[in-house]
Amino acid sequence: MNKEKFRETENKIRELKKKRDAVILVHNYQLPEVQDVADFRGDSLELSRMAAKTDAKVIVFCGVHFMAETASILCPDKKVIMPDVNAGCPMANMITVDDLKKLKRGHPEAVVVGYVNTSAQIKAELDVCCTSTNAVAVVNAFKDRKEVIFVPDKYLADYVSKQTGRKLISWNGFCPTHIKILPEDIKREKKFHPKAKVMVHPECLPSVVALADAVLSTSQMAKFAKETDAKEMIIGTEVGLIYRLKKDNPDKEFYPASEAAVCPNMKRTTQEKILWALEELKGEVRVSDSIRQRAKQAIEKMLEIV
Ligand code: 13P
Ligand code: SF4
Repeated sequence: MNKEKFRETENKIRELKKKRDAVILVHNYQLPEVQDVADFRGDSLELSRMAAKTDAKVIVFCGVHFMAETASILCPDKKVIMPDVNAGCPMANMITVDDLKKLKRGHPEAVVVGYVNTSAQIKAELDVCCTSTNAVAVVNAFKDRKEVIFVPDKYLADYVSKQTGRKLISWNGFCPTHIKILPEDIKREKKFHPKAKVMVHPECLPSVVALADAVLSTSQMAKFAKETDAKEMIIGTEVGLIYRLKKDNPDKEFYPASEAAVCPNMKRTTQEKILWALEELKGEVRVSDSIRQRAKQAIEKMLEIV
């Protein structure tokens, strides 16, 4: 689409949004054209919090499926729609309810912590949920428990384990996008930009995390970028975040650690699909009541801790 067409679509989205009493929540990895029509941009934790407190009747969720599900778990009276309901998270699909039940049977005394990047059915099996922002604090809240199960991301588990000094019972899940960032990428970018600070997401490989100045969630990166004195930064996460960083900090330079770190699911949503979603109110994400009640407890437990 050309600039004029984008502007036309943006205006239509704005008009229809008012008519539908809708709010557009956008994850930090979304396409620039989607970030440009956001009422609120954020990381997984911020978007859940925003969903929980909005007065709007309709939430247009531009992210991946587990995020929209989390919004629906927190606000069942609202209509949560996804402009593309096929946008999933491969990491979330790496663990099934049967897998988790089996793991729990093997460790009946363990507290069960699960990353927000999981389906509602998995969340219903957890004691507590966590996000990349608060995973360390959540695990630290269970110092009295001998065993901790942490699913599904083995690399986030490794990071949390190093930060808390606790051995975690983890699962073999990972983010196919973040593992594309290699230590060689960081070393190369550091050679090109020796003054740059390195920020990476905790879903990255441990060998990448070891080279970082800061290990942060996407919105923590946005905050760090604003507050630091550094004028240049190397960004070890999905490349979509760079658009927000540049927009918020026009006087600073941001270099992606790897151009290969693209999450195809995060790129499925477009302005045109947002417009169709607002026109038709299709693509609703709903969680059955029995699953919702249990999953909500795990999310609320997390919000209580942090
Ligand atoms: P954040 O919560 O840091 O935005 O991460 C979400 C995600 O899917 C990372 O791959
Ligand atoms: Fe899932 Fe990775 Fe995409 Fe995040 S970047 S939504 S963890 S596949």
